[in-house]
Amino acid sequence: MESNPYIPYPAEILEISQESPGIKTYTLRFEDDKIQEKFNFNPGMFVQLSIAGVGEVPISISSSPTVDGSFELCIEKKGRVTSALFDMDEGSKVLVRGPYGNGFSLQGSKGKDILFIAGGVGLAPLRSAIDYVHHFRKKYGEVQIFYGDKRPSCLLFQRCRDRWSKYFDMYSICEVAEPGWTGEEGLVTDLMDKVSLDIKNSAAFLCGPPVMYKFVVVELKDIGFADQDIYLSLERRMECGIGKCRRCNVGNKFVCEDGPVFSYDEIGDYTDKET
Ligand SMILES: Cc1cc2nc3c(=O)[nH]c(=O)nc-3n(C[C@H](O)[C@H](O)[C@H](O)COP(=O)(O)OP(=O)(O)OC[C@H]3O[C@@H](n4cnc5c(N)ncnc54)[C@H](O)[C@@H]3O)c2cc1C
Ligand code: FES
Repeated sequence: MESNPYIPYPAEILEISQESPGIKTYTLRFEDDKIQEKFNFNPGMFVQLSIAGVGEVPISISSSPTVDGSFELCIEKKGRVTSALFDMDEGSKVLVRGPYGNGFSLQGSKGKDILFIAGGVGLAPLRSAIDYVHHFRKKYGEVQIFYGDKRPSCLLFQRCRDRWSKYFDMYSICEVAEPGWTGEEGLVTDLMDKVSLDIKNSAAFLCGPPVMYKFVVVELKDIGFADQDIYLSLERRMECGIGKCRRCNVGNKFVCEDGPVFSYDEIGDYTDKET
């Protein structure tokens, strides 16, 4: 996108949507039309978002690259930077550099059945991938989506989930049911007996907390998924975002540059380590 990868560019917050009590989606557009036009990414890539005088955070792009003219970030309020962002209004400016990382192997998965498994805010990068697969629907086989969170009020992207359930085999599951909840109750691993794909010609894309990976990977391997067909998006604390500071290593790989998406045969036991 730019010659000096450390330079962030101003972007305007066009729209803010409250997804759940502590999570908002920000629709952004670079001030400079040329920067916006050149902003190409794969689902699963991330940007470094900064607020002047506060700090910088890595955030996955949650919209599909098939959307022109803007992009979306779905952000959970955590600490310094994300709290400052939650105080901003539509029309405010932030700084963005990127996109960085590799993203999900969706090009290489054409013709395959696809299983998306998301836990919590892990649906954010997968939403980009799911919308991408929806856009190019005929290029993929059967698609299943398993999405779990603590409570129904925590579930993200209601508008997308309604659409996905018309085109894909989609299940949402909550650990604690609330009044009116008609979906499944339990953990995302409880959905594994619903897998109805041609496993030998399938790819599984996972994004969620490390503990989810620990149990889901075991289940996927049990039903016949090969290590190289299981892809996980990892989080590590970052500084440069471009493979220079060595802050984000996983074994001998860097999450910012070699990831954040890795196949299980690349990283194995590193999947369940916290940032
Ligand atoms: C590749 C990648 C993609 C991510 N995508 C998303 C997303 O789509 N939505 C979302 O809500 N969160 C995402 N995160 C996590 C997000 O970066 C952290 O929640 C955020 O950095 C917290 O910053 P803070 O200043 O609010 O919190 P503080 O706790 O005050 O953090 C201070 C600083 O530590 C660093 N830091 C803290 N937690 C993390 C973390 N988990 N990962 C990396 N750096 C951290 C940041 O530089 C941050 O400014 C992603 C992280 C990575 C590595
Ligand atoms: S954040 Fe600097 S090497 Fe990954």
